[in-house]
Amino acid sequence: MNRRYRKTIIAGNWKMNKTPTEARALAETLKTRVARCKWCEVVLCVPFTDIVSLTRATKDCRISVGAQNLHQEESGAYTGEVSGKMLKDAGVKYVIIGHSERRQYAGESNELVARKVKAALTAGLRAIVCVGETLKERDMGVTNEVVALQVRSAFDSIPTTDELKKIVFAYEPVWAIGTGRNATPEQAAEVCTYIRTLIRKKYGARAARAVTIQYGGSMNADNARELLAQLDVDGGLIGGASLDPDSFAAIVQAANQ
Ligand code: PGA
Repeated sequence: MNRRYRKTIIAGNWKMNKTPTEARALAETLKTRVARCKWCEVVLCVPFTDIVSLTRATKDCRISVGAQNLHQEESGAYTGEVSGKMLKDAGVKYVIIGHSERRQYAGESNELVARKVKAALTAGLRAIVCVGETLKERDMGVTNEVVALQVRSAFDSIPTTDELKKIVFAYEPVWAIGTGRNATPEQAAEVCTYIRTLIRKKYGARAARAVTIQYGGSMNADNARELLAQLDVDGGLIGGASLDPDSFAAIVQAANQ
């Protein structure tokens, strides 16, 4: 973390977990636990069906609500889809884009991810853009190439430094997601620093140092402090550990040090 230049953001990614009733209960518990955390922003990225109950439950506290996906078009005949405009109107502030599970199971390409980034910005949402290599790619030694391709294709939808201010990058090595095998702080730092280098080359040093770059992949209450101690790791995108209020609050506290 480097709070002098950029925001620390801890975001929970609930994935396909929690009903609206469960979501409300979890938010009520979390509210009291993270109330004193002034140094980091707390976001809960939840299923579409939880958004309304969550925005209500969190309206008097510092927790922001995020979504996990959006459609690239603003409206139209796209049965089953949800647009950025709808999310914005429902009180959503952040949206995760290009999570590896969507790249894998919903076939989202770098090009589609870029279109979704554009849609999010047009709707006035902040985007958490996920990038990261598979184990095979890491073993082949092409981590930087894969990440560069993912990051640079998102750049296509981020024309100026004004838009860049609305973007968070999340480095999530696919092999670390949901596996209990987190990247070491050095591995996480190496790629997060590399992502910042890519941003610097495109948008300049001043803009690059203000971008929040999260790490995600089996981050938990035990390893958060060490990961967040890395200068270029400005927060976390947390799956499993965000479903338990004690674990999630402990990560938020680690980020608030
Ligand atoms: P995990 O998930 O913390 O359960 O590994 C992270 C993510 O998928 O964003």
